[in-house]
Amino acid sequence: MIGRKNIGRASPMLLILLALGFFFATYNLLTLIIQNRGSNSGMEFFDPVIRMPEKDTRAENSKKYHVALTATDAPYSQWQCRIMYYWYKKMKDMPGSDMGKFTRVLHSGRPDNLMEEIPSFVVDPLPQGLDRGYIVLNRPWAFVQWLEKATIEEEYILMAEPDHIFVNPLPNLANGDHPAGFPFFYIKPAANEKVIRKYFPEENGPVNNVDPIGNSPVIIKKSLLEEIAPTWVNVSLRMKDDRETDNAFGWVLEMYAYAVASALHGVRHILRKDFMLQPPWDLEIGKRFIIHYTYGCDYNSKGELTYGKIGEWRFDKRSYLSGPPPRNLSLPPPGVPESVVRLVKMVNEATANIPGWETLRSG
Ligand SMILES: *[C@@H]1O[C@H](CO)[C@@H](O)[C@H](O)[C@H]1NC(C)=O
Ligand SMILES: *[C@@H]1O[C@H](CO)[C@@H](O)[C@H](O)[C@H]1NC(C)=O
Repeated sequence: MIGRKNIGRASPMLLILLALGFFFATYNLLTLIIQNRGSNSGMEFFDPVIRMPEKDTRAENSKKYHVALTATDAPYSQWQCRIMYYWYKKMKDMPGSDMGKFTRVLHSGRPDNLMEEIPSFVVDPLPQGLDRGYIVLNRPWAFVQWLEKATIEEEYILMAEPDHIFVNPLPNLANGDHPAGFPFFYIKPAANEKVIRKYFPEENGPVNNVDPIGNSPVIIKKSLLEEIAPTWVNVSLRMKDDRETDNAFGWVLEMYAYAVASALHGVRHILRKDFMLQPPWDLEIGKRFIIHYTYGCDYNSKGELTYGKIGEWRFDKRSYLSGPPPRNLSLPPPGVPESVVRLVKMVNEATANIPGWETLRSG
């Protein structure tokens, strides 16, 4: 575990320092790594073992987690947030739920037209240009600011995203200092050892100490996240600034940044495959908790998946980049898996019940 005290609090100063220090830091790191590392990466497979929590005996109330949804004011983000919040409200008080309050952490730097509908907290985006067009780099910085400035009653935080729908009441899956995360099959620290080692040097332990996760969904003690978040800002900006890392990690760079930052603090996550399901690949809801609709669902009229080819029937969030989907989307043809049918029904239920669904314009 690196000294938590040494990491320090992030401040606007951090960003200025980072901006100035980038090229030097990266250059030095690269030189070091090229000198010190052989190329023995990529040979091991890291099979994510599911680590189950022990029985938790603490009082119900201290188990509550605050739902923190990072978002922007873009219409694409807004309509997803509205659906997300609708299902939070429905699940919150159901038996088995440990949900506490909800905050949309809005990292656009100014209020939008959903402030009344969804409890929201406005934070600043990264200084102009620092995100290099990769908007999600704003997430760690958003968490740093929110944790510093907001009053949060709950002891735990769920880091959530707009394309999450709560499909079953979600208990607190964390256990004390062990947060809970979802193992993503495409996050492979061991297979990327050479790159990971730039940020997670050998003295921190085996590369498998970096969990195969992203920051979301994760349920974590607030006090731990307060320690990790500034490191997460630091690591994500350094990763984005390093061409080899940027090329290796691409659109999942941000996920690796959280995985590495938490590992630098000696934090290991309980890996819960039942945390989330991802249509169309996961066919059934079962006892899983969150539907993540990041993949397009395309089917022909016989109910066969035509992934990669636009189907006669489809639901893809990216079809609605500039405004909300209409109410009452058509249901998929017979033969389509339960997970997809349920997703569309849940979207339809939310849009039918949210006042002003199709008329709300961003502003
Ligand atoms: C960010 O990382 C650099 C390079 O490791 C380090 O020198 C600096 O202290 C870090 N800053 C913070 C606030 O973590
Ligand atoms: C939804 O659309 C279906 C046809 O796809 C139609 O039969 C139904 O009446 C519509 N429901 C509402 C509430 O508009």
